[in-house]
Amino acid sequence: MSPFPSHLLSMDDLDAATIAEVLRVTDSFAEVGRRANPKVPALRGRTVATLFFEDSTRTRMSFETAAKRMSADVLSFSAGSSSVKKGESLRDTIETIQAIGMDAVIIRHSSSGVPARVAEWVDHCAVVNAGDGWHQHPTQALLDLYTVRQSLGGGQEGTDRFRGLRVTIVGDIRHSRVARSQITAYAALGAEVTLVAPATLLPPSLEGWPIAGVSHDLDAVLSGTDVISLLRLQAERGSGAYVPTMREYSAGYALTARRALQLPTDAIILHPGPMIRGVEIASDAAELPSARITDQVGNGVAVRMAVLFLLLGQGSLEGEAA
Ligand code: CP
Repeated sequence: MSPFPSHLLSMDDLDAATIAEVLRVTDSFAEVGRRANPKVPALRGRTVATLFFEDSTRTRMSFETAAKRMSADVLSFSAGSSSVKKGESLRDTIETIQAIGMDAVIIRHSSSGVPARVAEWVDHCAVVNAGDGWHQHPTQALLDLYTVRQSLGGGQEGTDRFRGLRVTIVGDIRHSRVARSQITAYAALGAEVTLVAPATLLPPSLEGWPIAGVSHDLDAVLSGTDVISLLRLQAERGSGAYVPTMREYSAGYALTARRALQLPTDAIILHPGPMIRGVEIASDAAELPSARITDQVGNGVAVRMAVLFLLLGQGSLEGEAA
């Protein structure tokens, strides 16, 4: 197993054994989350900053909850209410935050590569990519893996069960950092990933992508799918211009409860959120028992606790009561 990296910038930073270790540590934090007082002193005395230059509900709230559950101090930065609005540069913002004294910076930005650039600028501070442009969103992929592993029966042997698992990722692959992270993550564990999208919503080239196949016909692949992951059309990245009409897109690619009848009975449905009901997923599909969308969100806290612990924690996550 490779040592856990000093920054988490991409799923490419983690090999299969390291992913299995993250999921194993997540089990411990999931147990903490089930306690009446879900708090441990693992990061007492540490300070974690969340720097979001793009909107977020799930990622920001779950990272902040994760850090607080580990007794870290949390500073929350929003570009819209900061001196960025007065013209301060990203580099000066980072140097300011570092001067205040941070142990970890969780960063989301609309430009691919910003977290990697920030990692070059900081000293003694871990950088976590919370989503950068079309590039990567590694903790989303990790929480997806954890949710699938839970569905497969949990336990360390759960990662072995990814081998040959048939994963179908549907929707706006072109603009999706979630898809890029998921593909790397599933492939590392030996799953077979099929992409389903209209040609316009695929990247110009898929050369080198570790996928089993591509289809433009969702109905043709459903019966051979164990895990289906729907992606949002990314309006903020201009995705609407890549489909003739939303109605046409939904007719071909939205998962409905009726379509879901073609899935094997034990298949699971994932969506990273936010969902646009009626576009990539119908309400009746999102509410099926096989839809694990709220489990994904809940698991995100424990996964992010594990990531922060592996980056910053020393020794045991337990100790005197927090
Ligand atoms: N899945 C995800 O990243 O959601 P948010 O944009 O709400 O953080």
